[in-house]
Amino acid sequence: MPIIFDSEKKIFKLDTLSSSYIFKIYDENYLVHLYYGAKIPDYNLTDFEDRRMYASFSASNPNLLRTGFSADVYPLEIGCNGCGDMRIASLQIRNADGNASTDMRYVSHKIYAGKPALKGLPALYANEDSECMTLEITTRDKVTGAEAILIYTVFEKHSALTRSVIIRNTSEKPFTIEKVMSFNLDLIGKDFDLITLYGRHNNERNFERRALAHGRQGIGSRRGSSSAQQNPFMALLRHGATEEYGDAYGFNLVYSCNHLCEIEVDFNESSRIMMGIDPSDFGWLLSPGEEFYSPEAVLVYSNEGLGGMSRTFHKLYNNNLVRGQWKKAKRPLLINNWEGTYFDFDDDKLFNIAKWAKDIGIEMLVMDDGWFGLRNDDRCALGDWTVNENKLRGGIGSLISRIKGLGLKFGIWYEPEMISPDSDLYRAHPDWCIHVPNRDRSQGRWQYVIDMSRQDVRDYLFDKMSEVLAHNDIDYVKWDFNRNITEAGSALLPPERQKEFFHRFILGTYELMDRLTKTYPHLLLENCSGGGGRYDPGMMYFSPQIWCSDNTDALSRVDIQFGSSLCYPASVQGAHVSASSRSGYETKRNVAMWGSFGYELDPAKISKEASEEIRTQIADYHKYYDLIHYGDLYRIISPWEDPYKVAWEFVSEDKSQAMLTVVVKFFKEARNFFIKLKGLDPEKFYKCDHNGEVYSGALLMNAGLSMYHLPDGDGESYVIHLEEVK
Ligand code: GLA
Repeated sequence: MPIIFDSEKKIFKLDTLSSSYIFKIYDENYLVHLYYGAKIPDYNLTDFEDRRMYASFSASNPNLLRTGFSADVYPLEIGCNGCGDMRIASLQIRNADGNASTDMRYVSHKIYAGKPALKGLPALYANEDSECMTLEITTRDKVTGAEAILIYTVFEKHSALTRSVIIRNTSEKPFTIEKVMSFNLDLIGKDFDLITLYGRHNNERNFERRALAHGRQGIGSRRGSSSAQQNPFMALLRHGATEEYGDAYGFNLVYSCNHLCEIEVDFNESSRIMMGIDPSDFGWLLSPGEEFYSPEAVLVYSNEGLGGMSRTFHKLYNNNLVRGQWKKAKRPLLINNWEGTYFDFDDDKLFNIAKWAKDIGIEMLVMDDGWFGLRNDDRCALGDWTVNENKLRGGIGSLISRIKGLGLKFGIWYEPEMISPDSDLYRAHPDWCIHVPNRDRSQGRWQYVIDMSRQDVRDYLFDKMSEVLAHNDIDYVKWDFNRNITEAGSALLPPERQKEFFHRFILGTYELMDRLTKTYPHLLLENCSGGGGRYDPGMMYFSPQIWCSDNTDALSRVDIQFGSSLCYPASVQGAHVSASSRSGYETKRNVAMWGSFGYELDPAKISKEASEEIRTQIADYHKYYDLIHYGDLYRIISPWEDPYKVAWEFVSEDKSQAMLTVVVKFFKEARNFFIKLKGLDPEKFYKCDHNGEVYSGALLMNAGLSMYHLPDGDGESYVIHLEEVK
């Protein structure tokens, strides 16, 4: 059983294939955390009290004075503000009488098969109830009548847990939630390194590793999106743990707006870890009888280092996060006109791109920004989602039938959450953009953000998009989001609810995405936010692929893809070959193959030779699609370990084939010519396509494969395929 409750000892034990998570109901109904780490069969952990931590100055519950218990020093499942626990709080409620003392104690629990949906929020799901098990613990603040329901779901086969919290007002008076983190985890010890993914537009998800230090540390976003600057992901690696060995804990928030991922190492050398909505510009007024759902966090433990942790996330997300018709279906190989034409296109130009694309084996044309209103540059028309018939002469229907006539699918770009000051929509509804009264409305890329918290705005967008989507044979939508949110506020919210704005905004976006994907279930949605500014599991719930970065230069992109791979699978990673990229087409292809592959160029501007080279690339993409999308990823040489050369490998689930890619960023004289492969079956024999030799998996993993005769100049790369021979 993945979840057991020992009613005598009052211990909960949550097991996956390789981890155990254990806590107990302590005296006075505190929920005390006992253990999270490698799987253990028993739970005789009560001697943790012998390891009781120093508690002078730390206040105690008056009923527990003799036990030495203090909420300030015991590891707890929920960190309540103001009643003895002086560490960072995971829950803070401003009560009707104005104070913010919060004190949740265990009341009851239930355990059941399956997983509940989270109202209005994306979350992992069970394909069948038997796949996972849920523990719901009701805790209650007896003074205020506030309840916090802690939800734990165990994905046993994937060695993962999800956690979230529901706050319920069972009192007679309203109160304000000032902070609600999706989980609180108190680990004994501070011997960890923190890994996070920082970046910016064009340079997302860089790997950063630092040792934990006393005090508070962490990352977050206050940009109105999960952001390119700090992804809502962090990992803790035990000191000395590596890519393949040692304790690795991964944490990822299923949320696309402001987040906080925080750790406090306290004076007892314990580490409190939490993730949730950033509380600094958040508050939620909860009336009697109402509930508030926190976003969900995903917790993965692996004793196979960072690599094991990543592979767990990848499998979990492919199976239990990505949804819909396109979840496992083969995605069409696409060409997008953005880098090829920018705004300078018309129906004939698109048709010519499509003709070339069809000829070389591409399957879908995506028409990017510039097809609507008077949008001939980025200074206007967002919101005016009406086809520009000067560009698409004869209308979009006519263009689509020409494209479909060639046998290609057709996709279209939208940026629904935006509104240009220079648009008919803004002139008609100046209060529809996010703003606060009497302040300048800051512009980003010449645009404002539309107020997605408003039902009338969402209805307008749905209807407007439906005018195009309902009447035309469209297969794909690229959903973009190209600025941060400033002057956050809604014209419709009363003053006491303005702090709810950011969360209401993203709930509105999720609602519109949900409505669209339910109304048009055949649509393949590709998210984008100036590239990877909302590259998070919340968005992956709606869109099975996300444009990873606007940076399509293969030698830079490869670093972004390595960072992204820490928790996101290759199947969601939009990756294109572009003309602008440094390096030759072979390297561009080899890098873009690590993802949902496509092209982004104007064939009229590339040479005949390049065109012919592209033709040959496409067969390999089809051949190795499943291996890349659903195989196990091994990072062999990562950019954070070696600035000169990177290498990665995919191994099929049955270990019958593997694909090794090496990219030489800069030539280096003193080279190591041997690459040791990973994840193969030591007993199997594999034929290597670059020299025709047959090697055992054991040899390939221990002695390694020589790279001596392979290209090693700046920007060169190669791919080696290994196939089992019986
Ligand atoms: C963003 C996207 C690009 C492209 C442009 C269009 O920058 O990331 O791929 O769609 O918008 O304006």
